[in-house]
Amino acid sequence: MKIGKVGFLVLTVLLLNWSLSSAWFGDKQRKKSIIPAETTSSWVLNRAGAAGSSIVFPVHGNVYPIGSYNVTLNMGQPPRPYFLDVDTGSDLTWLQCDAPCSHCSETPHPLYRPSNDLVACRDPLCASLQPSDDYRCDHPEQCDYEIEYADHYSTLGVLVRDIFLLNFTNGNQLKVRMALGCGYDQIFPASSYHPLDGILGLGRGKSSLISQLSSQGLVRNVVGHCLSVHGGGYIFFGDLHDYSRVTWTPMSPYYSKYSPEVAELIVGGRATGVGNLVTIFDTGSSYTYFNSKAYQALVSWLEKELSGKPLKEAPEDRNLDRCWRGRKPFKSVRDVRKYFKPVALNFPSGGRAKAQFEIPPEAYLIISNKGNVCLGILNGSEVGMEDLNLIGDISMQDKVMVYDNEKQLIGWAPANCDRIPRSRDVSF
Ligand SMILES: *[C@@H]1O[C@H](CO)[C@@H](O)[C@H](O)[C@H]1NC(C)=O
Ligand SMILES: *[C@@H]1O[C@H](CO)[C@@H](O)[C@H](O)[C@H]1NC(C)=O
Ligand SMILES: *[C@@H]1O[C@H](CO)[C@@H](O)[C@H](O)[C@H]1NC(C)=O
Repeated sequence: MKIGKVGFLVLTVLLLNWSLSSAWFGDKQRKKSIIPAETTSSWVLNRAGAAGSSIVFPVHGNVYPIGSYNVTLNMGQPPRPYFLDVDTGSDLTWLQCDAPCSHCSETPHPLYRPSNDLVACRDPLCASLQPSDDYRCDHPEQCDYEIEYADHYSTLGVLVRDIFLLNFTNGNQLKVRMALGCGYDQIFPASSYHPLDGILGLGRGKSSLISQLSSQGLVRNVVGHCLSVHGGGYIFFGDLHDYSRVTWTPMSPYYSKYSPEVAELIVGGRATGVGNLVTIFDTGSSYTYFNSKAYQALVSWLEKELSGKPLKEAPEDRNLDRCWRGRKPFKSVRDVRKYFKPVALNFPSGGRAKAQFEIPPEAYLIISNKGNVCLGILNGSEVGMEDLNLIGDISMQDKVMVYDNEKQLIGWAPANCDRIPRSRDVSF
């Protein structure tokens, strides 16, 4: 499992800037007409009694050394399991697909064979995946799409509808028909290889599973996750928790991602004067990325904080940009916690008080395989993210994160993510 400096699988911010990838749409060479596999078309949709319920999936993975989090979904007819990378930074759920496949990576399971239930080109779900409203339909009966992720991963595919087998917390098991992508031509950057079958898009767009589940009346349009600092955790669809201890901030109307209004950076309890930070909560990224100004403020503060402490810079450790070595190799972030203070982002809360997103040392440091402590907040300018800031998995650990698309709020609360809730009314 390779983890480079940019050790994330999907980092989806380039979707904000579709002009960059629109050239791909003119590339007819890669597009093709899909001949669906023979499938039985019998399916059951039994939604009785499910509204108001929720769905919980255990998550497998960690920030380091695995570098991704995945859930197992059962899809198709008959349903088969697939490992999907959890991505709040993109909308569409898709599988590497035998359409047949032009470029697929090695997958843990046999490639998905698409159903013959194609989504039409003019379907609103298809429109939501296109770079502009006046997109072309060379094959009106099918929906071609292309998604390019910020780490230059890209996928070309067609939209189909198929069965998802879902366990609801009220005990119902339902076969729900939803749209998913059949990705038959992928471009992978070598540094981001993970053996996964596809991506689970949890974003705000129409094609996202949570939007589709809620438009069928199955759950409220709320999605969330709880990633444990020990690895693993869970994601959920619908209302799972008692939200009394959750801190809320409004979603920005200007972005299509889970992005609050602008934040200011706090280090060690002090304001840095670095404000106007546009941030995106993105589980598709293992690490957190700050823009140049915020990164500079963070690094200068850390250098001051660490002077006189028994930690020496370890430039020979190539795991991440900045690592420090101690007298003895460290085993866990607990060993170095005393040298580091929390970082925080202050968001507007709607009221006078700020909604503070605290990032304790456990949520911005990792211990490398060499026993050094490394900074898990990286310089976004170095990877071309310009002014954006991405809050990655590392900084959302041991918090329940809630994206309430009905109220347009993003919330968080400290939580023990090792305990997977089995039913509603779990409080923190
Ligand atoms: C995905 O999850 C499964 C267990 O659910 C695990 O066996 C597998 O190693 C995971 N894959 C990655 C790349 O983490
Ligand atoms: C769903 O429930 C069934 C029956 O209770 C169980 O066998 C199965 O493992 C569950 N699937 C998931 C993904 O939790
Ligand atoms: C962050 O990256 C930019 C672009 O490569 C560079 O100019 C800047 O010096 C870096 N900041 C720090 C603190 O390393």
